[in-house]
Amino acid sequence: RKKVTIQSLQNKRENKSPITMLTAYDYPTGLACSSNPNIDITLVGDSLAQVCLGHSSTTQLTLAEMIHHARAVSRGTSHPLLVADMPFGTYHVSHSDATSNAIRLIQEGRVDAVKLEGGTEIVDIVRHLTTIGIPVMAHVGLLPQRHISMSGYKVQGRSAEAAQRVVHDALALQAAGAFSIVVEAVPKELGAFVTERLKIPTIGIGAGPGTSGQVLVWDDAMGTWPGHKAKFVRRFADLQTPRDSGISRYAEAVCDGSFPSDSESYTMDAEEWDKFLS
Ligand code: KIV
Ligand code: NA
Repeated sequence: RKKVTIQSLQNKRENKSPITMLTAYDYPTGLACSSNPNIDITLVGDSLAQVCLGHSSTTQLTLAEMIHHARAVSRGTSHPLLVADMPFGTYHVSHSDATSNAIRLIQEGRVDAVKLEGGTEIVDIVRHLTTIGIPVMAHVGLLPQRHISMSGYKVQGRSAEAAQRVVHDALALQAAGAFSIVVEAVPKELGAFVTERLKIPTIGIGAGPGTSGQVLVWDDAMGTWPGHKAKFVRRFADLQTPRDSGISRYAEAVCDGSFPSDSESYTMDAEEWDKFLS
C-alpha cells in the first residue's frame, strides 16, 4: 500500500470511510501495524509510559523515552502515517521549547506528525507548529496527561456545558490547523456531533461509532494488558493465554531436559572431536 497522507485521511473523512489507528511502541509492533494494509495510522502513544515502560501514568514519560521508542517504531513502519504523542510538559513551557521538542520527535523519533492534548489553551502553539509545517493531531475529551488535576480518568462532556466546551475546543483546534482530532471518552452523541461539525477527521476512543475513525491501545486490543479494562476497550485477541502457555512449556522442557533436542544442537566432525580430546 502507498504511504498514507493527510490528504488520503481527509478523503476518507469525506467519503465516510472509517479510519483505523492502532498504537505501537517498538519495532515488532510497528512492523505488525504495517503488515496490514487496512491500518491507516500508527500512534506511538504516551500510553507507552504504562503499557510498555511500567510507569504509573503518562506524566512520567520523558521526551528522551518517547524519542527512543518512536525511532524503533519508525524502523518497522511502512505505509501507515506515523504519529507520536508529545509527552507531558514538552509543549507548555514556551513556543520555542515546544517547537524544538516537536522537531526532535520528527528528526530523531522519525515520526510524520505529533499529537498534543488540550483545548483552546493550546491553540496558539498548535497554530505555530502547523504554520511552520509540523502536522498536528489534536486530542480532546479525556486528557490522560491531566489525570491528577482532573481527579482521575473520567468520561468528559456529559453535561450540556461540558459538551459545548468540547465542540468549541475542537473547532478552535481545527482552525489552528490540526489535521485530525482524537476524541477520548465522551458520550457517543457528542462523538458523532463533533464529527459532523468538523471538516477534519475525528479519531474516537470511547467516543462511540460516530467518529471518522477509531483507535485502541495495542495491549488493550491484543489482550496483553493485565491492568484495568476501560468500558470502551474490546479485546480483539487474547495473546496473554498463548504467551503464558509458551512460557510454561519452555520452562518445563528446559527443566525436564527435553530442550534442546539433537536436531536443535550443533555437532562436531568426529575426527575433529577425537583430535580435540587427544
Ligand atoms: O497514548 C495513547 O495511546 C493515546 C491514544 C489511546 C489515543 O493517546
Ligand atoms: Na496519549
